[in-house]
Amino acid sequence: MKQEIGLIGMGVMGTSLSRNLARNGFAISLFNRHVEGSEEAVAQKAQKQYEELASALAFDALSHFVASLSHPRKIILMVNAGAAVDAVLNELLPQLDAGDVIVDGGNSHYSDTQKRMASCAESGIHFLGAGISGGEKGALHGPAIMPSGSTAGYALMQPYLEKIAAKNRDGHPCCSYVGPQGSGHFVKMVHNGVEYVEMQLIAECYALLKQQGCTNDAIADYFTQWLPECQSYLLSISIKILQKKEGDHYLLDRILDQAANKGTGRWSAQAIADFGEAATLIPAALWARYLSYFKKYREQAAAIFQTNPLQSALAIDQLKAAYQWARVVNHHQGFSLIQHVSNTHEWNVHLPTIARLWTAGCIIQSDLMYTLSSDLATHQHLLLHPRWKDFFERHHTAAKAVAKAAIDAEVHLPCLLEALNFFHGYKTVHSSANLIQAQRDFFGAHTYQRTDDPTGKSHHTLWE
Ligand code: 6PG
Repeated sequence: MKQEIGLIGMGVMGTSLSRNLARNGFAISLFNRHVEGSEEAVAQKAQKQYEELASALAFDALSHFVASLSHPRKIILMVNAGAAVDAVLNELLPQLDAGDVIVDGGNSHYSDTQKRMASCAESGIHFLGAGISGGEKGALHGPAIMPSGSTAGYALMQPYLEKIAAKNRDGHPCCSYVGPQGSGHFVKMVHNGVEYVEMQLIAECYALLKQQGCTNDAIADYFTQWLPECQSYLLSISIKILQKKEGDHYLLDRILDQAANKGTGRWSAQAIADFGEAATLIPAALWARYLSYFKKYREQAAAIFQTNPLQSALAIDQLKAAYQWARVVNHHQGFSLIQHVSNTHEWNVHLPTIARLWTAGCIIQSDLMYTLSSDLATHQHLLLHPRWKDFFERHHTAAKAVAKAAIDAEVHLPCLLEALNFFHGYKTVHSSANLIQAQRDFFGAHTYQRTDDPTGKSHHTLWE
């Protein structure tokens, strides 16, 4: 009897995912490399530690692991993105046969996934790039899974992936074939970009409320009151974070205010620039993390420059409305980015499906995502959907009021302010870009198109 599925990489995510597979009744083989002194018998130790893995087979010799699997072999890679994936593939591929399937479940860059797919295809091996979201708990109890690549490979993996994925409240598995090439990892990368903004927007509300003198418990209470209308995984965990105490002290107050990142937000910002998409919030959230790192300069500047306190108390309902408003702009930008790149690569990514598979299991799961999954079925540009018109009119006023108060009090709100800026640009018919075009033509003869010439021909003027 051979095992039906294998998993390589018994780190936090790999271990959780293997337990999820085993709990769902799949016969699984586990492999972790052997590194003298640091990674010894890792798979064997995990197999002994977790009850669910009692009947799993554990290996630190790759050939034995491969030999334990039934044909066609199905292998999930859960190793760190980058060189580690290539190192495993270099060793693994010569031991596999045409028809076998490999799923890369890490946060690989989508262009690396495309290259790996092409080289696997040369030997008839199916390669799937699958974004997996939900952190350690999600991997264990049901993540959101975004697979792409070989359709034949997906057909082999679908029963396993759908079974271990989260089920949303309508009973749908949060796993669906995204499209060809690296589209799954691209979509996961944008998921993380949207995640950066969702986190930053909550942090901005926290900053404003702190500025008003609210305690962490009071902020948690406000956020709790918001939950019926603003339910999201990230808001829920933020409430718990705000309430967490170590003795008499809030743990949050003892956490250094320098936000780290592992790179997917940066990749999203790079893609936004490369594809010419005006998704302005993801870079704003990324720059906010980068700015947080300049703690030394922030301390020096704070000692030199005074800050104004908030002039008047913020209306909490206004802040909630501003937060809800900016979240819709964030989701609009994220889905527009996916649509744009999908069109460019002819991936044919179906936005309502992506929203549906983000309704549970993943870090950006929220009630809003359910609404968006039906809205995107009729409008790719969420902001042009009639549903959001009234909402936007009402909430936009609140967002402006919060922004004015924040500017007066000099509170750093990069994402809320950028959402306003973006929206104001988005609904401007006659923008100032005509002056930019004229300047370009003036100093560089870059030419411009004329509003009174419907042919769209390029014109140049001798300006002096
Ligand atoms: C997820 C998360 C995860 C990501 C972390 C850390 O969907 O489960 O997005 O993939 O690695 O959130 O990301 P940063 O270190 O860049 O914040």
